[in-house]
Amino acid sequence: MTARYSLLARGLLAAGLLVAVSAADAQNKIKVGFMLPYTGTYSALGTAIENGFRLYVQEQGGKLGGREIEYVKVDDESEPSKAVDNINKLIKRDNVDVVVGTVHSGVVMAMAKVAKDTNTLLVIPNAGARAVTGPMCAPNIFRSSFSNWQPGYAMGKVAGDRGAKKVATITWKYAAGDESVQGFKDGLKTTGGEVIKELTLPFPNVEFQALLTEIAATKPDAVYAFFAGGGAVKFVKDYAAAGLNKTIPLYGPGFLTDGTLEAQGEAAQGLLTTLHYADGLDIPKDKAFRSDYNKTYKAEPDVYAVQGYDAAQMLGAGLAAVKGDLGKRDALVSAIEKARIDSPRGAFTLSKAHDPVQDIYLRKVVGTQNKFEGVAVKSLAEPSPGCKM
Ligand code: BEZ
Repeated sequence: MTARYSLLARGLLAAGLLVAVSAADAQNKIKVGFMLPYTGTYSALGTAIENGFRLYVQEQGGKLGGREIEYVKVDDESEPSKAVDNINKLIKRDNVDVVVGTVHSGVVMAMAKVAKDTNTLLVIPNAGARAVTGPMCAPNIFRSSFSNWQPGYAMGKVAGDRGAKKVATITWKYAAGDESVQGFKDGLKTTGGEVIKELTLPFPNVEFQALLTEIAATKPDAVYAFFAGGGAVKFVKDYAAAGLNKTIPLYGPGFLTDGTLEAQGEAAQGLLTTLHYADGLDIPKDKAFRSDYNKTYKAEPDVYAVQGYDAAQMLGAGLAAVKGDLGKRDALVSAIEKARIDSPRGAFTLSKAHDPVQDIYLRKVVGTQNKFEGVAVKSLAEPSPGCKM
């Protein structure tokens, strides 16, 4: 305490005012800024994340750490070039206490830099960019979702074990696609398989025809595809319309079929994917979560809703430890680091770099469900190369 502050405090104490001031502080709401895509190919993902986050807070009576939560939001449009301006709107204009975002890996990398420079608490409820928990890792940055490498690695092992030796990959050309493919290659390599062709198109382009023709000409044993949201719907339908699903098995991380099955219909039936969530998990927490989500939103939750819910749980664990006092940042961070998050996906803890260490499930599309088939890789941790923390 500085001498000036101590003098002031003594004066206020004498007047009985300091106690009143801290009590008023505790009454203040905590401001959460959602920076998520509400338009474009990832818009449904942004909405599901917000729904999940709000659901957990609602279950806690609207409070975390004893303090009410208020929300502001910005549509980031999954547009990396607008990311710095958008996060600055939340931090500088709206004075948020914590930023929750986002979905797109290119956007999150710009957000993480600003969060680091301003020491703003950032909880990432989707974007799997490895850099943010790698070289950019920081005490104020946490992720409730996955690293792009995790589901890709698991699918590589599964595809190899099912006999795929020579595989073609197809994805949008940006960090998420590149890293998902890298994970797949690493997993496939453990089984002796290899990637023989890598196809890409710019995000969020969905003109797949020429690339599907190239796949047909290459005749690989299997195809691994990273797409999500609206783009995943179109890709799975185009793959089936081209007749490729009859001859070349299509694999992917679970984003290919999560939150998309109503729209994909027949084209998605039987697809195998890997992810840290599935339908039909025999986990009491998941049953309660699904029932609450359904009652509140009249919709089935998907992996994105789970990640939003868990982002709120992580923040809640930190705030509970400091009784809502955001000034106690070190204690808040340490409580999140030590927390065991009772997630609908199954309980998880965080790695040293602040990523979930989690089971990756194998799922099969049956009707509108990504049915749990088994655990593809147990307790998989992102290796976080370059993180010094
Ligand atoms: C990403 O950009 O990191 C991402 C987007 C959608 C689904 C999964 C990952």
